[in-house]
Amino acid sequence: MNTAHLTVNPAATIGAINPRLFGSFIEHLGRAVYDGIYEPGHPLANADGFRTDVIELVKELGVTAIRYPGGNFVSGFKWEDSVGPRSERPRRLDLAWHSTETNEIGLHEFQNWLDAVDSELMLAVNLGTRGTPEALDLLEYANLAGGTTLSDRRAANGRSEPFDVRIWCLGNEMDGPWQLGHRSADDYGKLAAQTARAMKAFDPDLELVVCGSSSSSMPTFAEWERVVLTHAYDAVDYISCHAYYEDKGDLGAFLASGIDMDRFIRSVVATADHVKAVRGSDKTIEISFDEWNIWYNTRFENVDKIEGVDNWPVAPRLLEDQYSVADAVVFGSLLITLLKHADRVTSASLAQLVNVIAPIMTEPGGAAWRQTTFFPFAETARHATGVALDVAVTSGTYPTDAFGDVPLVDAVASHDELTGAIALFAVNRSIGETAELTVDIGGVVASGREYTVTARTLSDPDIHAANTLSDPERVGLQENTTVTREGGTLRIQLPAVSWSEVLLTPTA
Ligand code: AHR
Repeated sequence: MNTAHLTVNPAATIGAINPRLFGSFIEHLGRAVYDGIYEPGHPLANADGFRTDVIELVKELGVTAIRYPGGNFVSGFKWEDSVGPRSERPRRLDLAWHSTETNEIGLHEFQNWLDAVDSELMLAVNLGTRGTPEALDLLEYANLAGGTTLSDRRAANGRSEPFDVRIWCLGNEMDGPWQLGHRSADDYGKLAAQTARAMKAFDPDLELVVCGSSSSSMPTFAEWERVVLTHAYDAVDYISCHAYYEDKGDLGAFLASGIDMDRFIRSVVATADHVKAVRGSDKTIEISFDEWNIWYNTRFENVDKIEGVDNWPVAPRLLEDQYSVADAVVFGSLLITLLKHADRVTSASLAQLVNVIAPIMTEPGGAAWRQTTFFPFAETARHATGVALDVAVTSGTYPTDAFGDVPLVDAVASHDELTGAIALFAVNRSIGETAELTVDIGGVVASGREYTVTARTLSDPDIHAANTLSDPERVGLQENTTVTREGGTLRIQLPAVSWSEVLLTPTA
């Protein structure tokens, strides 16, 4: 058995955990919207055609803000197509995903759905095939109370109160050659800066996200961030990061994906702070990690991609990855990494939410179920409140080609100063051995408060086990009964390839 040690000290604060860290993403892609959140013929659909079983699962997941409507989709999207009487909305080609967009769901309907799941809208504008004027039109339509043609049209279309969208994305992955309207860093930086300045002329309190690189492996990575921020620094608030991971046949490296995410965040912070220093600015740019997940993209590229000039399906099954226990452990470790950077990563979006690389799956006319990744997200979103704590883990390591020697155990904690609750999140990346984790809670005990201690773990002898339509509850969280407490010391066993949480709940 391996051993590991860490300390939960309420004074070891990393930063406040912004609730937006537990955001997600719904794109007009595959069956995310149509036959996902929206299926008017389903027995559980509400009067608006939204599946109430999916609404309940989204609420249980606890997502706080949802990025919409893309993604690659937004770079060819005309927002005007998706508002007004449905019978007049055009059907359009979606060139990003080789599909047909019916525009049956648009801004108004999506906001209605957000109201039902109690989540905030994070809205992306098209800076691919469109530009500043169309972004300003959407802003005026969405956020102005009334008195202009566009704002009055919104009221006529059924929403008299403004949507009051606070956080906006200035395009999507504009560094990617696959993106409609792909630009150089210089061209995009100028366009983003111009659009951001114009949007802030309307409302200086808007929060604006400029596109960073679509992954840290892009050939333009870091230089893209430097050039874009050199143009847009004063006008924007966040720069985006996107990262997807998959097991490409090296499980040890896959389990260490959090190391890659950690380096990515550090590099973007360093680049943003370099621009800050060059400009002599007192403003700090934050990170919106607005696409992160496990994605078996290789399968999509080689098997699922739709082609053919006469082949433009509506809501095809695309990116419907099935997640295993091992995937969920990596996923949980990515959440740990995000929390370890809570001081700079103040917005994040799990990409995506329903059916498309998603924690929630649905069958048309049938069931909705939780994938393995649902559990670490729901638990972390529910319990990681207050501030993030650095827990200074010491553990053995294992060698990887990709990242050198990687710690077997990774962890982070949170402390809710209002309630006193403490939550510890930990992964054991060992493929074969349990880790005996010792936790020094002397600093917690010193407060004089009494706590109950509970622990739950996601693991399985079959690390490839998954939840499916025919076996939707195959994998779930189990009470971890190995947890013990003696004074200021906790002990718990973390099985091989596992994600765990330990909750210290004040008794009064
Ligand atoms: O989330 C799927 C796709 O991944 C998004 O549309 C795009 O932004 C990214 O490449």
